[in-house]
Amino acid sequence: MAILEPSKRLIVALDVPSASDALSLADSLTGVCTWVKVGLELFIAAGPPIVADLKARGFSVFLDLKLHDIPNTVAGAVRSAAATGADMLTVHAAGGPAMLAAALDAAESSTSPIQLLGVTVLTSMDAAQLASVGVPASPADQVALLARVAIDSGLRGLVCSPQEVASLRRLLSENIHLVTPGIRPAGSAAQDQKRIATPAQAIADGATYLVVGRPITQAPNPRAAVESIQLQIAEATTIHQ
Ligand code: C5P
Repeated sequence: MAILEPSKRLIVALDVPSASDALSLADSLTGVCTWVKVGLELFIAAGPPIVADLKARGFSVFLDLKLHDIPNTVAGAVRSAAATGADMLTVHAAGGPAMLAAALDAAESSTSPIQLLGVTVLTSMDAAQLASVGVPASPADQVALLARVAIDSGLRGLVCSPQEVASLRRLLSENIHLVTPGIRPAGSAAQDQKRIATPAQAIADGATYLVVGRPITQAPNPRAAVESIQLQIAEATTIHQ
């Protein structure tokens, strides 16, 4: 895999309730970060124009909608998501091979290219939560199984927690993008994230992109927080490339 520039490996999660909050945060990060993530909270409040507004400011946009429905419905949603101009989009690998194939077909036949990422097991699911919905496997085994389903269906990117990134990297080709939330710079609060790693550890384990939200968005100076994380990514990239 070509080594990405450190500044292109950080994705800032714009987990805010309105377009104006998102755009003022994005404006404060102009020039220091390439990628922003639009999740359900912001997308439902602001709608597709938020993607165009962020693209117009020069950001690459990761649309984290975690689609999971019947193949025909997901294919239509992928076409609509591609039309917004977003660069990456999440679908649940648990939707199964038919849904993933329909999603990929829609992405590849779209006039604006969009990369699909397969979500494996949500980081909020532990063994007890999986068992309660009829999945007897451990989270690690279920992540490996769903990663294989997604890759065999043709996807070239996955979302996983820092806990699985090293084992998935060993299983998968280096061309597969691994996108990893649950990142906490040394010394910052874990908040509700359970399975966390520092930026340096996640890069060392083989993450392609790091998703960081509150350690940046709730920092007194978000731009300085981005610059500090970029430095940690750059140092880890130099050591591990
Ligand atoms: O604030 P924080 O850094 O915890 O934000 C992490 C972001 O990554 C949030 O937008 C969250 O929805 C997202 N995410 C996650 N775990 C996943 C998938 C996405 O934390 N498995």
